[in-house]
This record gives sequence, structure tokens and C-alpha cells, in this order.
Amino acid sequence: MTKGKLILSIFPGIDLLGKGFEEQGFCVVRSPDHITGGDIRDFVAPSGVFGGVVGGSPCQDFSALNRAPTGYGLAMLNEYKRVVLDNQPSWFLFENVAQFPNFTIKGYTQQRFELDLGWFVEYSRLRHFMFGSLSGALLNPMKGKKHNIKGGAVVGKDSRSFQACCEIQGLSHDFDLPFFSLSGKKQAVANGVPLPLSCYLAKLIQRDYYGEEAGQIRIKAEAEKRCACQCGRLVYGRAKYDGVSCRKRAQRQRSRI
Ligand SMILES: C[S@@+](CC[C@H](N)C(=O)[O-])C[C@H]1O[C@@H](n2cnc3c(N)ncnc32)[C@H](O)[C@@H]1O
Ligand SMILES: [Zn+2]
Repeated sequence: MTKGKLILSIFPGIDLLGKGFEEQGFCVVRSPDHITGGDIRDFVAPSGVFGGVVGGSPCQDFSALNRAPTGYGLAMLNEYKRVVLDNQPSWFLFENVAQFPNFTIKGYTQQRFELDLGWFVEYSRLRHFMFGSLSGALLNPMKGKKHNIKGGAVVGKDSRSFQACCEIQGLSHDFDLPFFSLSGKKQAVANGVPLPLSCYLAKLIQRDYYGEEAGQIRIKAEAEKRCACQCGRLVYGRAKYDGVSCRKRAQRQRSRI
């Protein structure tokens, strides 16, 4: 049962990622964040307390637009790994931009997959995720088709109104952060994982990790075959990949080695 299951959200910001898990009944504890005067480097997680760890470290260094990475992105990615290693949750979920470097955490079976906000609503925002579990269980994430896209992701210096930014991120139009400046509010909302994605991720973990589907226990297929690009998606029959983008991703991975 995931109701009340304790998980830890790190680099929470205003925690749209954790909010999705809360909406699905998880109990979310949040580590310190810069925007509330804290620093993850001072945080020590006790071992074995949390069922899962979720979070997305700062992504500016990994963004395709950044020509001068500072090294901070990698340092914070290492902080994410440290917290997981110290705490030993049953599973972890990492979120970032498409260009974040692959990493492994000792003891965990891992998969990397993408989700686009444009598969859920009329605004596009591609995010990449790494899921890992100690038991070896993996997720079978959806692969969607974009709607007719009306516009792009919310960005820090967005010219749209704050209410419009909130709605694009899946928040209600009267959501507010009363102690923030207008630019601070927009930045915090822009940093977040859009709620349609975070709710979907929480449901995916409930279904594929905990075996719960709409309150039912899912019966697992006997022999499951997963896509060879390591996105974790199930493939059937003689197929090796889930689709063309998976085949291309695997080719890119091979040419990097
Ligand atoms: C991508 S945002 C997280 C967004 C969040 N996952 C959400 O869905 O709303 C990254 C967060 O890392 C925080 N951060 C950056 N460096 C930090 C540090 N050294 N310690 C704690 N938090 C840090 C930033 O303030 C920011 O809120
Ligand atoms: Zn794949």
C-alpha cells in the first residue's frame, strides 16, 4: 500500500514533483533548499527511513544552451547520489533536462526514460528521468504523442502572466507564493516538474513498483522483455526496441563508448 508511504524529496524548491506524490497519497518529507536558506550539503539522511527518494538537482550546467558549465551541476548530482547511498531507499527517481549525464548508484537496477508535458496538455516540456530500485523492479512508462502545441515551457523570465505560468504547470490559477517577488515566483514555478508529469510518475510507481492499479494488485506478466535502450519500457514479440527514438538512443550510446 502506498497510502502514507514515507518518501524524501530533495532539491524540493516549491516541490511540484513532491506535490504529485502527495496527491497520490504518499507522505513527503522535504530536505533543505537554497530558496528557504538551506543547503543539501549540510543534510544527513538516516538510513532505511524512506521508501523512496525523489528529486531533480539544478540543471543549468546540463542545459543545451549553457556554453560555460561551472561544475556545480555535477557537484549537486553527486549530492543526490550521496543522499540515496546514505539512506538506501527501496527506489529512487531523479529528474532533469534531457542532457543530464548518465550515472549509476551502486546496488540499484536503473532505467532512463523521457516524458513530455506535451503528451498531457497543449504545452511542451521534455524532461528525462532516472529510476532505480534495489529489488530490480522497473517501470513501464508511457510513450505519448504531442497534442497541438500552443506554446513552450514556463521559463524564469516568462513574459506570460504569473497566473498563466501556474496554469501551464498544472497549478490552479489562484496559486500564490505571497513572500516572493514576481520574478522569484515565476522562477520557482518554472523550476518545477509540471504537475501532470509528477502525478503520472507517482501513479506509475504505484502501478509498476508497488503493483497497485486503482486499488487493485496488478498481476505481473511471467516473462517481461524490456527495451534494449534501457528506458525500461516493455517490448513484445521479436521487437528489441520500443520504437525508432529508442533505437536511435541506443545507437548514440554505443557510438559514445
Ligand atoms: C530544479 S529545482 C527543483 C524543482 C522541484 N523539483 C519542483 O518540482 O518544484 C532545483 C532546486 O535546487 C535548489 N538548490 C540549488 N542548490 C542547492 C543546494 N546547494 N542545496 C539545496 N538546494 C539547492 C534550488 O534552489 C532549486 O529550488
Ligand atoms: Zn527504449
